Amino acid sequence: MKRKIIAYNFVLREVLDPLKDDYEIEFFENINPQTAPAFIHSLKNAEGIIGLALPVDAELLDLAPKLKIVANNSTGYNNLSVDEMTKRGVMATNTPGVLEGTTADAIFGILLAAARRIPEMDQFVKTGQWQHYLTTEQFALDVHHKTLGIIGMGKIGSEIAKRGHLGFDMRILYHNRTRNIAAEEKFDATYCDLDTLLKESDFVVLMTPLTQETEHLMGEREFKLMKQSAIFVNGSRGKTVDEAALIEALKNKQIHGAALDVYQIEPINQDNPLLQFSNVVTTPHLGSATFETELKMAELARENLIAGLSGKRPPNLVNP
Ligand code: DGY
Repeated sequence: MKRKIIAYNFVLREVLDPLKDDYEIEFFENINPQTAPAFIHSLKNAEGIIGLALPVDAELLDLAPKLKIVANNSTGYNNLSVDEMTKRGVMATNTPGVLEGTTADAIFGILLAAARRIPEMDQFVKTGQWQHYLTTEQFALDVHHKTLGIIGMGKIGSEIAKRGHLGFDMRILYHNRTRNIAAEEKFDATYCDLDTLLKESDFVVLMTPLTQETEHLMGEREFKLMKQSAIFVNGSRGKTVDEAALIEALKNKQIHGAALDVYQIEPINQDNPLLQFSNVVTTPHLGSATFETELKMAELARENLIAGLSGKRPPNLVNP
């Protein structure tokens, strides 16, 4: 009998074709993993799981007694209860090192889109409203030579700093758990405390992983510290932000606007007030979603999965 693998929301299915001789692969997409009977049944014999954003906690692990590895097809792994997995000898892996530039392009892209009001202006042209010169109400904000504050100066944060510094002559401030000396040397980035960053930045870009410490890192107090002319950009995880506080800050015009790629609930509910603001640019968690990068991530996740199933140490093990 072939060993069983579950592929959960794993878009590039063909990447798993080479495994088909040795493994039985069951694909699940757009299901509720807590209630879908076929998925719950499949867990019983699954030795490996590969995929995106499957919540793996004690409850799921109880249903999967043969599980050896969960290979996340993402860099973030806040969906995995790593401590619980470690306790039970289940490996957890992610896909770092292949998506940083791509994600930085996307996040810098939505920053530019919000500052220059590109989605709004696109609609203005396409709906036939462009009948005369632009009015002052339609003017936007400069990006070049402004202050870019990056919260979370890891690999993606550093790529964003590079774009801001080298491409747009921006002053770079950053806040991080530890100093990032390479970013200071290469991009003239200045380390500062969170409050200083929030007070001085024209663009506040949040790039921290979601952890207990970073949950709701941006709340009412933090939005109040931002300049009224500043734009808030979230490229990390939705739960790093108190969404209700962000909505209030936008309603009260405490900040100029926002650019968001991630949300508290994904996909976002259509009645979420964030969708009503013309000064909020929204994208559907697309940071890494290019053909080139998704392929690299899927191949890396597969490499991790195969290593784990063969009893070897996967290259991107995140268990301590
Ligand atoms: C990542 O890799 O963490 C991206 O945000 C996709 O989830």
